[in-house]
Amino acid sequence: MEKTRRQGFHLEPPAGLLNDPNGLVWYRGSYYVYFQWNKFEKNHSYKEWGSFASDDLIHWQFRGSALVPDQPYDQNGVYSGSGLEIDGKLCLYYTGNHKEEGRRTSRQCMAVTEDGRHYLKLGPVLETPEGYTPHFRDPDVFRAENGLYYMLVGAQRSDGRGALALARSRDGFGWDYLHPLAYSRQYEMVECPDLFLLDGQYVLLYCPQARNNDTDACLSSYSAYKPVTFDPETGRLSPEDADLDRGRTVTDGGFDFYSPQTFTDGKGRRILFAWMSRMEEAEEAAFSAAEPSVHCLTMPRVLHWRAGRLWQTPPEELYSLLGEPIQPEALDSRTFWLGIEGLAGDKPFSLTLHGGEAALDFDPAARTLTLTRTAWLTGQPESKTCPLEQLKNLELWSDRSSLEVFINGGSLVLSARIDPASETLGLDVRGADGCGITLRPIHCI
Ligand code: FRU
Repeated sequence: MEKTRRQGFHLEPPAGLLNDPNGLVWYRGSYYVYFQWNKFEKNHSYKEWGSFASDDLIHWQFRGSALVPDQPYDQNGVYSGSGLEIDGKLCLYYTGNHKEEGRRTSRQCMAVTEDGRHYLKLGPVLETPEGYTPHFRDPDVFRAENGLYYMLVGAQRSDGRGALALARSRDGFGWDYLHPLAYSRQYEMVECPDLFLLDGQYVLLYCPQARNNDTDACLSSYSAYKPVTFDPETGRLSPEDADLDRGRTVTDGGFDFYSPQTFTDGKGRRILFAWMSRMEEAEEAAFSAAEPSVHCLTMPRVLHWRAGRLWQTPPEELYSLLGEPIQPEALDSRTFWLGIEGLAGDKPFSLTLHGGEAALDFDPAARTLTLTRTAWLTGQPESKTCPLEQLKNLELWSDRSSLEVFINGGSLVLSARIDPASETLGLDVRGADGCGITLRPIHCI
């Protein structure tokens, strides 16, 4: 059994540090996944866009550098952004980060490609408008139903509070700042927004971030979503929806999930990838001490909007990686799929893997689901608890050093990197008598 922390079926670069997924797009029949990459070191000192491409969401080709910080306006980092096909060209939008004598300047920039291999930078297309600090980044560009292009930007207002800013364009190339779209009183910054129409409902994904504005340090952040009414004519949300502190739901209840981004593919599916990490610097160092790289993306997830919630499910393509059902003793890899169906819904349930490396506990009295794993630095168990009314079924995708658990058909998902200590599965399931339990190896390509 493999002891490495390198993943079997998740996207991770051969070396360095990966963070946010960027420029996700389906273009000319291929999937493109760009990502924040420090190719030199396993830390955050350098940022460019690395790239992967695939024709089928399963076989991925690592293509190395796509956009590097080689211009005065992006010399201190090609930061996060999005991708969109316009008139046959793949347009990439990113934040050019420039620092001089400790002063940061952020500009939203554009690059284009027609083959996913050669990139032409077009330079800055939007300066940071009055009323915002230089924490102005992560452009999310989309085309609304009326044909207008919008750019949503993660921002901090001059009063030190988080916000989302909106710019508009007729052609996707020339941009005008419009107005603040949404604001937070509780958080000092909002990162990585994504606004999209899903099953007839506009959904806003965003990452509220607490910052110490005196030291300019990030304190904490997470991914949230909320349904909104967006008027493509005016570029406005309803006043209630514009309040980012109201009506939000945590996007993933696990330990490691941040900066999700979505796109629509050729099959018309809205697909999400996220950065599968929320590690602190010391945890990153501990995790990757013996590894060439640190961090990976989540599995792709197909999104739906149903019953007032975001549903996330694995794309059908990924099931082709599953082998025939086997007994736990016969499993000789950490890459496996476990499905449990027909649970009572309101009875206690628990599941332990790899001798306690990871555990799930459903408490019907408290109506909570708890995920426990071994903490990176202390070696002690640590837990995350989220509200759950009923537990009916679950689907667990294990890679060599991660778990993604899809609850009740995907209305709740928990993602976590796992410290791979044990070589045997040691599966212990309680509260599932008479239920269908299926274990299948995942064959990595
Ligand atoms: C989110 C983020 C983005 C920024 C990028 C830099 O993780 O901080 O706001 O563009 O990472 O790597």
